Parts: sequence; C-alpha cells; structure tokens
Amino acid sequence: MMRHATFRQLEIFETIARLGSFTRASEALFLTQPTVSMQVRKLSDAVGLPLYEQIGKRIHLTDAGIELARTAREIIDALERMDMSVAKMRGLQKGRLRLAVVTTAKYFAPMLLGEFSRNHPGITLSLKVTNRERVLERVAENLDDLYILSEPLGQHDLVARSFMENPLVVLAPPGHPLARRKQVTLDLLAAEPFLMREPGSGTRLAVEELFAEHGLKLNVRMELGSNEAIKQAILAGLGISVLSRHVLVDGKGRGDPVILQVQGFPIMRHWHVAYPQGKQLSVVAQLFLEFLLAAAEKSNAASGAAVSSLAGKARPPVTKVRS
Ligand code: PGA
Repeated sequence: MMRHATFRQLEIFETIARLGSFTRASEALFLTQPTVSMQVRKLSDAVGLPLYEQIGKRIHLTDAGIELARTAREIIDALERMDMSVAKMRGLQKGRLRLAVVTTAKYFAPMLLGEFSRNHPGITLSLKVTNRERVLERVAENLDDLYILSEPLGQHDLVARSFMENPLVVLAPPGHPLARRKQVTLDLLAAEPFLMREPGSGTRLAVEELFAEHGLKLNVRMELGSNEAIKQAILAGLGISVLSRHVLVDGKGRGDPVILQVQGFPIMRHWHVAYPQGKQLSVVAQLFLEFLLAAAEKSNAASGAAVSSLAGKARPPVTKVRS
C-alpha cells in the first residue's frame, strides 16, 4: 500500500524519473546504487506494480511509474513551498527557483537572474535552456517553477503573461547584395540559401508559418541546432536566416550579421512568462514573476534600458491560454 512508502523513497524515485537513470540519481542524492535500487524495489512493492522497464542503460517508466513520479513531484513541491512560506514568516527569503527558457531567452534571462539574485542572495537558482518543444514537454512534466517562451497560444493549459517583444528578423552577412535593397520580397528571400533551426524550435515554427501562408517554400541549405551556430554560419557566408533580434549584440555591433528589410518582417512575437494552470506558485516563484514584470514595466517606461524593446502596454497583461 502506498501509505507504507516513505518520503525518501518518493524523492529517490522522482530523481530517477527526472534524470532518467539510477546512476545519475544515486550521484545526485549522494547514495550508493544498491541503496537506490533497494528503495525503489520497496516502493514498487508498496504500489503493487512495476514502475519502470530497463532497456539497455535507459530507464522507461511504466504508466504506474509516470503517475507515481507526478505524485512525488507534487508532494516535494508542496513541501518546498511550505519551507519557503515558513522562511518568509521568519522574515527570511530562502528557497529555490527553477526556470526553464527557450534558447533565445538565454540572451537576457541570465542578466535578469543576476539582478534578482543580487536582491535576494538567499535564493538558489537553476536555469534550463532548451528549445520550445522541450520547454513544453517540461511544462507537461511539471519540472520547473516558471517558463519563458514566445507565443504559448494553443499549446497547453498555461497562464501566460506577455512581458517583452521578440522580433524575428532576416539576417545576412554584411555586404550581401540584398542588404542594399529598401524592400526585399518574400519570393526573393525564398530563393536564397537558408539556414534553418532544428525541428521543435519556436523560431523555425514561426518562419515556416509565414512562408506557408504565402505559399512559398524555403531553400533550406543547412539545419543547425543553435542560434549562435546559425549566426556564425551566416557570417561565414553559408546563407541567410531568420532569428530573434536578441542574438545581435546591439543591432549594429561589428561582427554581427546585418538585418535585411523584408516584406512581412519583423515577425513580431512576444516573450511570455508562463506556468501551468492550477499550479501553486511558491513564494520565490511569485517573487520572480513580480520582479520580471516590474523590470519589464520599468524598462518599458525608460525604453532603452537593459531589458530593451519591451512589449507595449496595449497588450493584455494576462493571457489565459487553453489548448
Ligand atoms: P526556440 O524558441 O528557441 O525554440 O526557437 C524561440 C521562440 O519561441 O521564439
């Protein structure tokens, strides 16, 4: 019976589920592998069903295992929230903030975390940077406190607040023949060798949507899994691409690609800070959310401050998104 399971067993199992391996879980928890295996066996007995299958070195959770990992996560989260609330009652600001952001957000998220951390030194931070598809998987698995991504519409049951513009621009190497044109048509762009982000990227999705709307097909020369790699490939003359303006140092920095003036561009996306509907935010997550929105607001007013090009106040502050 589940009542016989211990908190430690649940914590061990949640770590295995999250890291996908007994070895990594035992390292993370500073336990020996036999201890981890024994505790999981006891837990499996308490549930009365197998919790995982092992194929090669990989662990695959069974349906019971997935359900148990989710429950364990909820229990651990609830206790962490309790810890943070108690710390707050004592006048302390302690706790942990787990943030997962899409790749382009890495250009501004560390700066925001730096400022937040200076104001709240007692808070430990973790930042996961990955593509849109993987961020949405993490939302479904409830792995983090808050998420930063563009246009979460129609994806999941999310509460999302828009806080900054994310313009996608067409980038070419300096001196590219199209750089002299005042207005480049989409057909002309479609003929150029194009450097595309990997499947699962939100940037790629936006580009594909725009070209599909116009019945055009891109001439994809190469697929690359990182904004920085694409930027370097553009400079190396391998092709042009569409990336967030955030990848440029200041929009006119030396050694940066140049922005082409193309019909339909920039594709104006908006950064959102989001969390699953019904999720109870911890004291620390709430604090960061408020900090982020206040920083956006301040920068918006000052326009040109560190967090630049902020979303207009005309946008609705709260977007409830249902799939
Ligand atoms: P990506 O997401 O890093 O997955 O391309 C960026 C975005 O959604 O704008």
